[in-house]
Amino acid sequence: MSLSKKHQPVLLEETVNYLAVKKGHYYLDATFGRGGHSQAILEQGGLVIALDFDQEAIEVGQENFKEAIAHNKLTLVKENFKNLEAVINNLAKTQDINLAGILFDFGTSTEQLTSSKRGFSFNAQDNDILDMRMDQDLGVKAGDLLIVLSEKQLTQVLAEYGGERQARQIAKAVGKVKRDQPDSLHYSKTLMQIVERVKGGRLGKLHPATKTLQALRIAVNDELNNIELALPTAFELLQKSDAIDKRLLCIAFHEGEDRLVKRFFKKTADQNLAKLLTKKAITASEEELKNNPRARSAKLRALAI
Ligand SMILES: C[S@@+](CC[C@H](N)C(=O)[O-])C[C@H]1O[C@@H](n2cnc3c(N)ncnc32)[C@H](O)[C@@H]1O
Repeated sequence: MSLSKKHQPVLLEETVNYLAVKKGHYYLDATFGRGGHSQAILEQGGLVIALDFDQEAIEVGQENFKEAIAHNKLTLVKENFKNLEAVINNLAKTQDINLAGILFDFGTSTEQLTSSKRGFSFNAQDNDILDMRMDQDLGVKAGDLLIVLSEKQLTQVLAEYGGERQARQIAKAVGKVKRDQPDSLHYSKTLMQIVERVKGGRLGKLHPATKTLQALRIAVNDELNNIELALPTAFELLQKSDAIDKRLLCIAFHEGEDRLVKRFFKKTADQNLAKLLTKKAITASEEELKNNPRARSAKLRALAI
């Protein structure tokens, strides 16, 4: 099955239902991407403040959502969602923000994943840099990480963030290339060749470097730390808001992300600070999977505050 190169928002209907969008209320879309979820909130009459730390996502959004921005229905901000409180406080200086919901749709967009220039792709050309920064202002690219991390540290990253069983062997093979030709590690192709040498070719649908790339992406963008910082902040902002029946929604794509969400949601529900709306995570329907196989690992959890 060929995959679309345009990002398709996952669990869209479910997200809109759980957000229970109220007309004229504000919603924070913490991960704007190509704006699929923001668009759906706007269509329901909600007002959207959207963040993304990828400059390209912001620029495309400014173009595609010109009208909503001009009519003050959408405010787009290039910012890491771990700083969402500062963004809201800043906007609240000039407007009354009755925040009724916050949505996180973690991970990467299809455009980030499939552009060989961004360094997330398996199909690397000879000179494609192993970059993987979603936020172009970050200082360290994935290739730099391969060079600065010790074999032991790299093993840990690959095992913990990627669940890669051959983490140690891959880290060892990277270590050997680092000694012989360190500069080659700045290129995606070198890493693909190393992983293919260690693991062999494609097994079934998964590319052998899938877990390695996931692990490096998480490390480069400090993804789990950002989530851990943002969840309590988002929750407190909603607690403080005057709106009624506020919602906090998270869509996770791998175990590491989902574990943080599950744990945080359970803690607030156990303390009677919120009501857990999804006892079990919501996953994509067969219908959605037919049109968007990338939704396969998506898990939606929702909290009412
Ligand atoms: C899965 S995509 C979101 C797709 C979006 N819901 C849509 O329908 O188009 C995730 C987006 O979140 C952004 N992102 C990931 N971590 C972020 C962070 N800590 N702060 C801000 N944006 C982040 C990525 O750059 C990416 O564009």
